[in-house]
Amino acid sequence: MTDLPAVPIDLFVNPAFAPAAPYGAHRAAILGATALERAGAEITRWTGYAPTPLRALDALAARMGVASVHYKDEGGRFGLGSFKALGGAYAVGRLLCRELGRRLGREPAMGELLRDPALRAACSDVTVTCATDGNHGRSVAWGARMFGCRCVIYIHAGVSAGRKEAIERYGATVVRTSGNYDQAVQEADRDARALGRHVISDTSYPGYMDVPRDVMQGYQLMVQEAVAALPEWPTHVFVQAGVGGLAAAVCAYFWERDAAHRPVFVVVEPARADCLLRSARAGHPVAVTGQLDTLMAGLACGEVSLLAWDILAEGANAFCSLQDEAAVAVMRLLARPEGGDAAIVAGESAVAGLAAAIGALQDRRARAALGLGADSRLLFFGSEADTDPELYRELVGPDAAEVAAAHGTGAA
Ligand SMILES: Cc1ncc(COP(=O)(O)O)c(C=O)c1O
Repeated sequence: MTDLPAVPIDLFVNPAFAPAAPYGAHRAAILGATALERAGAEITRWTGYAPTPLRALDALAARMGVASVHYKDEGGRFGLGSFKALGGAYAVGRLLCRELGRRLGREPAMGELLRDPALRAACSDVTVTCATDGNHGRSVAWGARMFGCRCVIYIHAGVSAGRKEAIERYGATVVRTSGNYDQAVQEADRDARALGRHVISDTSYPGYMDVPRDVMQGYQLMVQEAVAALPEWPTHVFVQAGVGGLAAAVCAYFWERDAAHRPVFVVVEPARADCLLRSARAGHPVAVTGQLDTLMAGLACGEVSLLAWDILAEGANAFCSLQDEAAVAVMRLLARPEGGDAAIVAGESAVAGLAAAIGALQDRRARAALGLGADSRLLFFGSEADTDPELYRELVGPDAAEVAAAHGTGAA
C-alpha cells in the first residue's frame, strides 16, 4: 500500500445495520426484481444499448493487498458519460406512459412511444423538468429528445459551462439559478407547479416518490450487468453517494438477491456534502446546508432521498466521508495504471468508492471494522468518465484521448 495515495477517511460503522433483516415487502416495492426486469426490458431495447465494461484491475488489487478489484466503468453509457443515462431517461419514459395513459384512457407501453407517430405527437405537448448538477439533467434531456417531449433543466451556480452546454446539446432549455443544488430543486419545483411541467427528480421527498423510484429502478440494470460479468460474488462494495439513489440501487440488489451473503456495503461521500453520514450518525435524515463546496459535483447534495434512506438506513454497514484531494489522487491513479491494468478515464464523482476502500485498507481500525483483508473481493461503480473534459484535463493532466493512447483503455 505504500505506493498508493494516502486517503484519510471518516468512517462511521452503522449501528442500525440489520444483518438478519430480510429484504422485505416495503423495500421490494421501492427496488425489486420485477421492476428491474421491466426496466431492463425497456432500456436494453434503446438504440445504442450495450452493457458497460467491468474492468478487472489485478495490479491495483495486488497493490492494495486484496484478492480482486472490479470496476464497473460507466463512462461509455449511451454516449452520455455516466450511469445516470439509465435513470433519468427511463423515468421520462415512465412519466410519459402514465401521463398519456391519463389523457388517452389507456396506458401505452414505453416502446410504443418510440414507434407510434400519434403518441409521439402527444408527447410533444408534455414538458419535463428537473434540477441537476449535470449528469441527471443530461439524462433527462436525452430521454426527452428520445421520446419527443419538451425539457427545461435547472442548474445551480457551481455547474460548469461545459456541463451546461452538454445538456443544451440535447435540445433542452437550461436555467441557471444562484444557490446550491437543493435551491435549484426548489426553483424547478415551483416553476413546474406554476407552468404545468412534470418534475423528473432523482431525489424523493414527502409526496414525491414515483419518479425517483423509477430512476433508481433504471440504475439497477447497471448492478445486474456487473453481477453477470463478475467471476465471483463480491465481499465488499463501496459506493459514492449524492442523494443516495445510486448507493440504494446497489445495496438493494445484493440484499434482495442473497440477504445472508450480501457484501459489506459502504456509502461514501465528500466531507463537505455528507448528508448520509450525518443522517446515519443522527439515526434519521439530516440536511447539510450551505454551498456544499466539493469538486465532486455529482455528489454535492445536502439532503438524502427518502426512498434511498429506506434502503440504506439498515442496509449499509458503514458510512464514510473523504476530502476532494483523495478523489483527484484516485482519478490520476486510474489514468496512469501499473502492471497491465487498463487505463480508466474517471470523472471527479466516479472514484470516491475506490478512494474510500484505499483509505480503509490504510486504517487498522477501519480494516478490522469492515473485515477487509487479503481475501477481499472489491467491487466499485465508476459512475462517470470525463463529463467535464476541461476540468478532467486540469485535474489529471492528459485528456481522455491521451490517457487512452498512453496506456490503452482496455475497451473492446
Ligand atoms: C457521476 C455520479 N456519481 C454518483 C452520483 C450519486 O448518485 P446519487 O445522487 O443517486 O447518490 C451522481 C449523481 O449525480 C453522479 O453524477
